[in-house]
Amino acid sequence: MLKSHSCGVLRAEDAGKQVTLAGWINRRRDHGGLIFLDVRDRFGVTQVTINSDNQPDAHAVAATLRSEFVVQFHGTVQKRPPGFENPDLPTGEIEVIADKVVILSEARTPPFVISGDQGDDVDEAVRLKYRYLDLRRPKLARNMALRHNIVRFIRNYLSDRDFLEIETPILLKSTPEGARDFVVPSRMHAGKFYALPQSPQQMKQLLMVAGMERYFQIARCFRDEDLRADRQPEFTQLDLEMSFVDQGDIMALIEPMLIELSQQVSSKRILQTPFPVISWDDAMDKYGIDRPDIRFGQTLCNVSSLVAESGFGVFKNAVAAGGLVKGVVYPGGAGMSRREIDELTEFIKPYGAKGLAWIGVTGEPDSDGHYTGDALRSQITKFLSQEEIDGIVSASGAGAGDLILLVADQPDVTNPSLANLRLEIGRRAGLIDQNLLAFCWVVDFPLLEYSEDEDRWVACHHPFTTAQDADWPRLESEPGKVKAKAYDVILNGWEIGGGSIRIHRSDHQMRLFQRLGMNEAEVDEMFGHLLEAFTYGAPPHGGIALGIERVVALYADAASIREVMAFPKTATGTDLLLEAPSPVSEKQLVELHISVRDKKK
Ligand code: AMO
Ligand code: AMP
Repeated sequence: MLKSHSCGVLRAEDAGKQVTLAGWINRRRDHGGLIFLDVRDRFGVTQVTINSDNQPDAHAVAATLRSEFVVQFHGTVQKRPPGFENPDLPTGEIEVIADKVVILSEARTPPFVISGDQGDDVDEAVRLKYRYLDLRRPKLARNMALRHNIVRFIRNYLSDRDFLEIETPILLKSTPEGARDFVVPSRMHAGKFYALPQSPQQMKQLLMVAGMERYFQIARCFRDEDLRADRQPEFTQLDLEMSFVDQGDIMALIEPMLIELSQQVSSKRILQTPFPVISWDDAMDKYGIDRPDIRFGQTLCNVSSLVAESGFGVFKNAVAAGGLVKGVVYPGGAGMSRREIDELTEFIKPYGAKGLAWIGVTGEPDSDGHYTGDALRSQITKFLSQEEIDGIVSASGAGAGDLILLVADQPDVTNPSLANLRLEIGRRAGLIDQNLLAFCWVVDFPLLEYSEDEDRWVACHHPFTTAQDADWPRLESEPGKVKAKAYDVILNGWEIGGGSIRIHRSDHQMRLFQRLGMNEAEVDEMFGHLLEAFTYGAPPHGGIALGIERVVALYADAASIREVMAFPKTATGTDLLLEAPSPVSEKQLVELHISVRDKKK
């Protein structure tokens, strides 16, 4: 070993020991005859001190050291003189008095500062290009360790409960998870392609038919989709499947696992156990979104029926067109300036909202319980009846001093606009307790949704999800009303996992595929293997998958999952370090039977 100790372990009781340390120069302070060096490795930082009087040779080498040189030191551990201890450093009671300094590797000046917890403000493109330097920063190194600990915990937890970890292929056939596949051309089969798994969904179901009963995998998944802070083209799932279970069994496995995990890796408080279970309908109604952040209130109110005949055309017309008029309360916002309200209006525009109506409750109702005159401040109350005004204030729960913000539009505009406005209110008004882990389950998702783009019904989760028992009869007649045995687990407004109970009968599976617009020949070509498998004795089964990066990012307080991935890609799917994707040689293309088309055509 080139080192006897790490840079994080030496303490006062080690005084007098001869040690060899090796690591990177974190910082150098040159006081002429005395040089102080902070030496860093993954485990910490230790101060090494070199005195020119006692060790002139070592001192001469030390004088040439710069940040990020890789250096080996031999010396003696010594307690620091009283008053010179550094309480911020676990090794702060001691220093190593070096008698020998060996440069193992020199370093150019890095493009950003690596020591300490600075660096977050550095342009992310630079951080990603020099990711090996970025990962040296203590913060990212901590994230890597946290990720390792979380995955290790999960592996142990499930192994202790009779689960088998089974690897499934990366070179696979297309799996319909809703995103575009990444495909890999086959050299041996001209014109044919593998697809990378969007998830191991079909494989884990086949493992259930195979009798594995309890399977998990820390599985790599690939989806060619638009990227965001919480989405990468390549990511990792805890993928899990169980036989002879219903929805409650999956929840009863995952919930205690997440509670224990939280206790192990986080000092934050879990808001509520058992986790609240919210129906999809309620989530959409109260939060406008299927992944509610329940760390704070400000739930939405639906005033559609109240204003269906309103004199305010915007409201009336929206309801008449099948839309929703909903509102959210900005606590203490009644006195907000027009400029601030305009800002909120601008904030919701990207979600499609055409406007934001507002009613400031500036006072108390009169003796008859009506909000009139000075008790209100609004640009729309002149169009509303007294009954409508009182009804809106009452439904919103607003009190004196609060501001009610209303959006009228189709559900797919009203809901996301207000869901995001609610979060913005939470942030601006400081309503979000950063010390909370607010888990909840969302259940009773619709099985299908109508895709305008494709002009057909598509599966909300994936086409292997089963319908709730009572709803099967209306699969053909009222597809939009069929609920699924599907569930998501949410943490602080992020969807960290989702799963379902599966169809395990080939006739049911065929019926659903047909409902999705596939004919028998298409089903046979794409899913014949699965339907056939189900004819050889398939156990009822179901499962779930958790997004590992999202889970780690939430525990790490990271704003993006890129912060918890060693080598993430940019928003355009580029690897800035390797400069991938990149062209391949003509020879490779020929072998793969591929010719690249001119992009313009
Ligand atoms: P689903 O598609 O909901 O379900 O994915 C499960 C979880 O994976 C995470 N996730 C992602 N994380 C990062 N980047 C992405 N692009 C990305 N996409 C998804 C999310 C999500 O909740 N086979 C089913 C699971 C099942 O039914 O058992 C599936 O993949 O945290
Ligand atoms: P207008 O009659 O267009 O001037 O709108 C009157 C007020 O209603 C303005 O403050 C708009 O911001 C607001 N408004 C317009 N469209 C909507 C809408 N779809 N939902 C809520 N408020 C709206």
